[in-house]
Amino acid sequence: MLTQRQPWWQKGVIYQIYPRSFMDSNADGIGDLQGILQKLDYLNDGTPDSLGVDVIWISPFYPSPMADFGYDVADYCDVDPLFGDLAIFDRLVEESHRRGIKIIIDYVPNHTSDRHPWFQESRASRSSPKRDWYLWRDARPDGSMPNNWGSVFGGPAWTWDEGSGQFYFHQFLKEQPELNWRNPEVRAAMQDVLHFWLRRGVDGFRMDVVAFLIKDAELRDNPPNLNAPPSLHPGDLFGRQLHHYNEDQDEVQELIREFRRVLDQYEDRCAIGELFYELPRWVRYYGENGNGLHLPFNFRLLHTPWQADAIRQSVDELEAVLPPFGWPNYVLGNHDQPRLASRIGSAQARVAAMLLLTLRGTPTLYYGDELGMVNGVIPPDLVQDPQGLRLGAERTRDVARTPMLWTAGVQAGFTTGDPWLPVAADYTTNNATVQSQDPRSMLSLVRKLLWLRQRSPALLEGTYRSLPSGSEACFAYLRSHPSGDYAVALNFSAQEQHIALPAAAKGHVILSTHLDREEELSGKDLLLRANEGLLIKVR
Ligand code: GLC
Ligand code: CA
Repeated sequence: MLTQRQPWWQKGVIYQIYPRSFMDSNADGIGDLQGILQKLDYLNDGTPDSLGVDVIWISPFYPSPMADFGYDVADYCDVDPLFGDLAIFDRLVEESHRRGIKIIIDYVPNHTSDRHPWFQESRASRSSPKRDWYLWRDARPDGSMPNNWGSVFGGPAWTWDEGSGQFYFHQFLKEQPELNWRNPEVRAAMQDVLHFWLRRGVDGFRMDVVAFLIKDAELRDNPPNLNAPPSLHPGDLFGRQLHHYNEDQDEVQELIREFRRVLDQYEDRCAIGELFYELPRWVRYYGENGNGLHLPFNFRLLHTPWQADAIRQSVDELEAVLPPFGWPNYVLGNHDQPRLASRIGSAQARVAAMLLLTLRGTPTLYYGDELGMVNGVIPPDLVQDPQGLRLGAERTRDVARTPMLWTAGVQAGFTTGDPWLPVAADYTTNNATVQSQDPRSMLSLVRKLLWLRQRSPALLEGTYRSLPSGSEACFAYLRSHPSGDYAVALNFSAQEQHIALPAAAKGHVILSTHLDREEELSGKDLLLRANEGLLIKVR
């Protein structure tokens, strides 16, 4: 089951950087690749005083009109001048690799920008050689749209093109027309994009909405979702449908196998995919005998109520459904979701960090979550995210995209200009520098967890088994390995809990999320203080 040498994407901790918001090197208020270069030591300088992540995933930095902040790509093989240029990207790869950090970039295959030359050409006329590269359809006889599908960002998924007299298809903004992946030329051109970056040394791709690439060949209407919450925005057609025909079609598996065949021509590369399905459908994305995605993102913990039992069940179900070749992974935050610390509170965010970094599987850590950053406060007139602009300010993803908090200096050290989104108000007292100097801070906890994890075979590759704890508010589990076991006990409540771990889990507390406790466990009972997690080296 375990390979002899565990690949880097199983051992590593992935750190997601939203480049606009990480570090601005040239005072235009927008983070850039040079800024990331400046902060590599923060991410990993090889000592326990740095975060210690060994994989970074950078959200899109390609030339883009930024209608969806870079997820509308106008050129797949370049860098937007806002973020830098290819030479800086190459330096970033080189410098990261020198530090043992792998680089994953975003691959956005489902749609281009409407400014992409391919779309410009496709739109020019019905007889354009690239007409079939996108999804063009006639109006129905009564002039209406080809089907009832909606856009994730509100409104219908079809836009009328006056010039050429047809509708084109987009499940995001109308500025994000969707490629026709049934067209072999599109496949070839998009494979060339993978080669372009693989040759530049990138270690893997995070494939954006990868299960959207193939739609039902007949574009049949989706049925209504009778369980849609009545509170949905009136424009949210997408939310009111069941997605039987627009995504997760069987044929997409063949495309994923093709991507893998490209990646497998290079040494040691990794394919991650963004997917939202229930376990039986989700697990198919590992492919047969592991010829699919290495890591189909597992977002289940983002949507599971933050209670010990529910989380235990989510983890146990995932472990149970994995094929022998399938490696688990866990995500607790990203650029599309509200901040974890706002959802579960700052005290539980520490418990969550211990969970994420001690479960079996590859963790993805979203920038700023290591500081316990909370949702940014975005006045309604400053909302930037197209989702917030179209589906209501309460849906804006801006809250999770505010500038990284570096120092107590001007604009938290993020920029010397005007930041594109406001910096958190409490930055003078809460930032990476202050937390670095506080041995009990969230940052100190995350560093410690990463340091221990990278040095413990049980945490890296040991088996996982949930343990009875005798308390409904606690989740405990064992990570076993021939070199020694670890137990983890997490208190999801704000009350202290007495738990009784099985004898197999007795040992020595080596880390408390409160960072104030190391002790030999005697007796049968273990006291977990409010919101406390313990990492125990088993005797
Ligand atoms: C993915 C991205 C999201 C983007 C969308 C369209 O869900 O994570 O940020 O808006 O795809 O590309
Ligand atoms: Ca900049």
